[in-house]
Amino acid sequence: MNGLTIELKQALIDQARLYQKRAYNPYSHYAVGAAVLAEDGQVYGGTNIENSAYPSGLCAERVAIFRAVSEGNRKIKAIAIVTCNGGSPCGACRQVMREFAAADMPVILANDEGDIIFESTMDGILPRSFGPEDLEI
Ligand code: THU
Repeated sequence: MNGLTIELKQALIDQARLYQKRAYNPYSHYAVGAAVLAEDGQVYGGTNIENSAYPSGLCAERVAIFRAVSEGNRKIKAIAIVTCNGGSPCGACRQVMREFAAADMPVILANDEGDIIFESTMDGILPRSFGPEDLEI
């Protein structure tokens, strides 16, 4: 896994815990916080935002990534995701991560006490993935 210091890892988990508290989740009551480290060192957080028209809501990971990209940061160097149970990112979020991440990008799943439940990489959670290079025919 590429070099992510313990301090940076902790900072990402802390940010993800902060954003988890901001979840707008009146339907599922499942709170998710995400924090992505951008190439320029900025950290962008996101929370899950639900909607009474259910499919209009968005996952925390995509909120965080889209915030980073909207600010001009198209390279995601690491992501931490916090839920009550260290839950895994959904398939759609994995694919969106894949667009902006290297294969060895660290992916950290933690619970809401900050304990790391699982650590992997982009390629580890989405092997043999489809990405931008596949369209460079
Ligand atoms: N959720 C996320 O925020 N990220 C995921 O990767 C999985 C699911 C949210 C969506 C919805 O608000 C709630 O968790 C239950 O699915």
